[in-house]
Amino acid sequence: MNFLVTGGAGFIGSAVCRHLCANPNYRVTNLDKLTYAGNLASLRPIENAHNYRFAHADICDEKAVLDILKRDDIDIVMNLAAESHVDRSIDGPGAFIETNIVGTYRMLNAALEYWRGLGEERKRRFRFHHVSTDEVFGDLPFDGSMFVEETPYAPSSPYSASKAASDHLVRAWHESYGLPVVLSNCSNNYGPYHFPEKLIPLIILNALDEKTLPVYGAGANVRDWLFVEDHARALELIATKGRPGESYNVGGNSERTNLAVVETICDLLDRRRPRTGGKSYRDLITFVPDRPGHDRRYAIDASKIARDLGWTPKENFDGGLARTVGWFLDNKWWWGPIREQRYAGERLGEARKAAP
Ligand code: NAD
Ligand code: DAU
Repeated sequence: MNFLVTGGAGFIGSAVCRHLCANPNYRVTNLDKLTYAGNLASLRPIENAHNYRFAHADICDEKAVLDILKRDDIDIVMNLAAESHVDRSIDGPGAFIETNIVGTYRMLNAALEYWRGLGEERKRRFRFHHVSTDEVFGDLPFDGSMFVEETPYAPSSPYSASKAASDHLVRAWHESYGLPVVLSNCSNNYGPYHFPEKLIPLIILNALDEKTLPVYGAGANVRDWLFVEDHARALELIATKGRPGESYNVGGNSERTNLAVVETICDLLDRRRPRTGGKSYRDLITFVPDRPGHDRRYAIDASKIARDLGWTPKENFDGGLARTVGWFLDNKWWWGPIREQRYAGERLGEARKAAP
């Protein structure tokens, strides 16, 4: 089975590549443009594996994608390449429209042309798996309700609107042209190799640097956290066993307020890397102006993927967060260069300097 993973140098894509390459019956091509969020160091554990190869390309380049599909005899496309940070999308939506919408359109065109040229057996086996987000469903109240696959789309940010648009295109290519697609909508991932502009790695590394720990608004917004390696297992199942035309919600069953997440990180670091003077990292918590359009709560009902594909998360939030904090303490070689050279650490997404 030959996989094309787009965005494989990113946080989730690299976890997917590492996971797939552990199976000697799979061959994996990682297609990535290497934007600020792409990092080949995240592929170090597999960079010399016999079943892994890297292709430096842009998903908006239809010809390059088609050439790679043909060259590597691809059976399954997993489309993860995207601009993924909500705050950046508020400051500058352009790249999100380009990669997330136009790029998905180009991927679909290339995949359709490739798929039409396959023999009957390979045509039946082929899948285009589009990896999306729970943010397309928008804002949930604090009433215990959850997103199911049928929840209507109601995106709030330029990021989630661009992902919603791409999901609609993928469905249309199935309905109109018969391309065998599957979709998945996942909640917040966390774990090793997480880019340090996102909440959990940002808080860990700011704390280690004795910097303030920025919590938007009152920290009452709720996210449903999923350990990235559990997501990678789910994505393999959806891509290989999911029913064409269907979507699957993937979640960690771990709802937490942002403030609770930040406090738990502080408590873990207090034990593992105590501050001098006996103070707690909690003293660094700083409440800052809220994200515009900040969705209050996300929560995933993942019963369909449990029932149809037999997937449930293996890691609970406390165990996964302890592993994540431990990984960042042990792997400065990975995040040190990012913090020094590519991540300025400024506050993004206040909509002050937006230039659509
Ligand atoms: P990321 O920002 O860490 O990585 C994105 C990767 O895509 C990078 O390697 C980047 O170089 C690459 N890329 C960007 N534009 C490209 C282009 N035009 N052509 C080729 N490559 C390009 O993102 P992530 O957090 O790993 O998310 C991966 C996917 O999963 C995204 O589609 C995202 O919407 C979705 N998702 C993420 C989460 C999450 O919690 N991180 C949750 C649900 C869904
Ligand atoms: O729900 C899935 C989504 O999760 C994915 O589709 C996105 O690609 C991914 O980036 C993530 O989006 P979020 O906006 O939820 O992630 P982020 O880490 O940016 O923020 C998590 C929560 O923490 C959110 O409610 C905003 C808040 N936050 C974030 C940052 C960066 C803070 O309070 N302080 C911060 O400094």
